[in-house]
Amino acid sequence: MKFHKPLLSAAVGAALATGLGLQGVQASDDDLDLLPIEKLGKKIFFDKQLSIRRNQSCATCHVPEVGWTGDDPTINEAGAVYEGSIKGEFGNRKPPSSAYATLAPIFYADFGNRLLGDNDPDLADDPLFVGGNFWDGRATGWELGNPAADQAQGPFLNPVEQALPDAACVVYRVCTGKYGSLFDEVWGPQRCNIDWPNNINGVCAQTDGEVALSPQDRNRVDQAYDRVALAVAAFEDSPESNAFTSKIDAHRAGMYEFTEQEAMGRDIFRGKGLCSECHVGTPGPGAAPPLFTDFTYDNLGVPRNPLNPFSIANPDWADPGLAGFLMNVEGFAEYADANLGKQKVPTLRNVGLGSCEAEAFADDEDDEDRRKGKGKCITKAYMHNGYFKTLWQVVNFYNTRDVKPVCEELEPPVLDATVDVALANDCWPRPEVAANVNTDELGNLGLTDEEEVALVAFMLAMSDGYLEADDDDDDDD
Ligand code: HEC
Ligand code: HEC
Repeated sequence: MKFHKPLLSAAVGAALATGLGLQGVQASDDDLDLLPIEKLGKKIFFDKQLSIRRNQSCATCHVPEVGWTGDDPTINEAGAVYEGSIKGEFGNRKPPSSAYATLAPIFYADFGNRLLGDNDPDLADDPLFVGGNFWDGRATGWELGNPAADQAQGPFLNPVEQALPDAACVVYRVCTGKYGSLFDEVWGPQRCNIDWPNNINGVCAQTDGEVALSPQDRNRVDQAYDRVALAVAAFEDSPESNAFTSKIDAHRAGMYEFTEQEAMGRDIFRGKGLCSECHVGTPGPGAAPPLFTDFTYDNLGVPRNPLNPFSIANPDWADPGLAGFLMNVEGFAEYADANLGKQKVPTLRNVGLGSCEAEAFADDEDDEDRRKGKGKCITKAYMHNGYFKTLWQVVNFYNTRDVKPVCEELEPPVLDATVDVALANDCWPRPEVAANVNTDELGNLGLTDEEEVALVAFMLAMSDGYLEADDDDDDDD
């Protein structure tokens, strides 16, 4: 995929990387210097063999070119939920970006800690939950020390994702596959020293298959499976995934000047729009450049997505978000009600990458590329249930949620409104979950049309790839 013209020579790029505290800046995707463990993780991330029908990898739902989320415009325009390896099996949420997920802290409850200068007395009764991966935080990092590593163990065995019946199937296919030697090189050859039963291929093709192993070999499988996840997390943490090569990063290093519109968007993002109350623009953990999330949870009152296949199959279901996870954790279950409907504040990095909305903002240079057929753009989907299809729609919702009438209360009522129907009727549907809707920080922002569009322009400046040189264009200066 073609990004922007390179602004920087390799030398300047390297200097910039040092300034940002990154390990290195790449000339192009292929030249990236990945460590062996990151290369291994990359192989696993893109390996379709690691699914029951050998048809789905992590990258099926986390496509780099569109910001590590789903790239099927037909799905995004509707339910925004991706089918698993087995036809007809669906999850219930939109894939968030897998990039930048490794930087989430391990899930914890903040009960107020005076030693840390956290004096809010309300926290003792109503703690603030922070960190973890997934929209509901359930990949906590408690197992492997990193939320993304805990997360990476899920999809291979999840019946609505890659759907393999046994962790042994994943380990078997990694150990005996094309890059098995790389696994040995990274983790030592003894890890794959396992007596595999002859019928393993047949067993791994069955949804209820269980690979018969000796207790020692089962133990080795468990150890190796942890290392599969750690390798995936290492790739997700590499500069190929957490690239920090957006216009924002260039701007922070003094290498890019915002357009007037982007500068206006930045001021509204921090000011009148209140966006940085949750999508914080200050440096992330370990002095990482800003991730535009504070890793907390909120209910924005996003409408139910009437096209979500899971909602269609279960008409009474409403996504419980964080509460669905807390409910099952000892010591946290009592806080479930106060967190019903809250979803994770997602990173906004790459949020517009690869979208046709971004194309519409692109300059003439890119128009020429598009005429040459180089650019590809898709409709994306936003929020946990993919209700919104453009960043502008998201901004308009933040701006007018509590200003426009409720669709269901119109005469005649507008029911099950998709975002297009809601916009056409100048109303917003009721929230998917009515409890705990945040009315302090959004709903009636008083932004003008021009200010709404400026916010979109600023978010588009968060797309990685700006600082990458593109080697497929010979006429670059
Ligand atoms: C069928 C589509 C699908 C596949 C395949 C898939 N994912 Fe996901 N991924 C999702 C969805 C949907 C979510 C959100 C689920 C939720 O919040 O309940 C998600 C969430 C994540 C997150 C959490 C991001 C965050 O910030 O919370 C990461 C990281 C991730 N996936 C990585 C992976 C990896 C690694 C693989 C392969 C081992 C993978 N995914 C395979 C759909 C998929
Ligand atoms: C009170 C905290 C809060 C504030 C303030 C806030 N956001 Fe969000 N944002 C969230 C949460 C939580 C989600 C996910 C909600 C969901 O999926 O139901 C989200 C989701 C988004 C998404 C969708 C991202 C994706 O990957 O699907 C965009 C875009 C976004 N916010 C932009 C903004 C902008 C622009 C502003 C300011 C006008 C803003 N946000 C203000 C908490 C906040």
